[in-house]
Amino acid sequence: MLGSLLLGASRVPLVRRAVSGVPLTRKVVDRFVAGETTQNAVDAVRRLTSAGLTVTVDHLGEETKDAEAATQTADAYVALLGALSGLGLGDRAEASVKLSAVGQALGSDGGKIALENALRICEAAHAVGANVTLDMEDHTTVDSTLEILRALRHDFPATGVAIQAYLFRSEADCRDLAHEGSRVRLVKGAYAEPASVAHQSKNEVDKAYVRCLRILMSGAGYPMVATHDDRLISITETLADRFGRSRGEYEYQMLYGIRTDKQRALAGAGHTMRVYIPYGDDWYGYFMRRLAERPANIAFFLRALGGK
Ligand code: FDA
Repeated sequence: MLGSLLLGASRVPLVRRAVSGVPLTRKVVDRFVAGETTQNAVDAVRRLTSAGLTVTVDHLGEETKDAEAATQTADAYVALLGALSGLGLGDRAEASVKLSAVGQALGSDGGKIALENALRICEAAHAVGANVTLDMEDHTTVDSTLEILRALRHDFPATGVAIQAYLFRSEADCRDLAHEGSRVRLVKGAYAEPASVAHQSKNEVDKAYVRCLRILMSGAGYPMVATHDDRLISITETLADRFGRSRGEYEYQMLYGIRTDKQRALAGAGHTMRVYIPYGDDWYGYFMRRLAERPANIAFFLRALGGK
């Protein structure tokens, strides 16, 4: 309930200005965001990969309403990937892209603009041996995102996509995507969605996640199991045994700053553990979704505001 209120409020400009303007917000944001600059992102990548983790880097931003800003976001990815080239990480580093940040929301030409920008990012990633995964945003964008994915895969077949278990349609999408060479990041879903398209209760979402997971783990693609949920991690291990998948044949993913001990434990046990690193100054939407996921994060935020 509180989570839905926060997700709703996150789209109100007045609330955005109020939260962004609180001086201590930045300190709290730093728990979830690696910093604002390319150098901050590169430092985080270096730190995490030296600790045996793999990474996917997200330049923060979404729902861009301006073509120039969409181009600048793509430029920022190209600069980041260029900066990573010296580290020689190959597919230990990848980029995560929100298509709405590169033009998808720009009216009838949005899909075309987003595809052109995403192609530029894929080319830069390819040049350093990295892949790109498309994030999934609210349900109105899913068809367009999957269409752009298909177009990108023509030239960059390793391009992946996030699928949100809470959407009713996602089991069918997982079936379509569980083929050889296909990389699918399975998440629970982080947006406020209506009951007409998505499961609403945690229990239903968790059950839907397991159904999607089973489809991906039994299929021929490469599942990227993106969750901090211990129960789902243990179910993943059971399914890996059942379907004969060894450790290099699926991976875990978690968000920067969340369950870092678990991240290291999974990597230490020989799993590919990829950390999603957001950076940039447009942190508001991302930050509000992290608050909405967990009441304890709101308490942490309020404590910091109170100076504790
Ligand atoms: P759940 O929310 O049930 O959390 C399980 C446990 O994890 C909690 O009990 C707590 O211990 C810990 N935890 C979870 N969230 C936390 C938080 N914010 N702060 C502190 N602890 C927390 N969504 C989307 O709609 N589109 C996308 O493209 C992506 N991409 C994406 C990439 C990656 C790598 C991850 C890990 C997640 C996403 N998500 C996403 C977000 C996803 O949909 C979901 O909202 C979060 O992962 C939280 O769900 P969990 O599966 O972790 O379970």
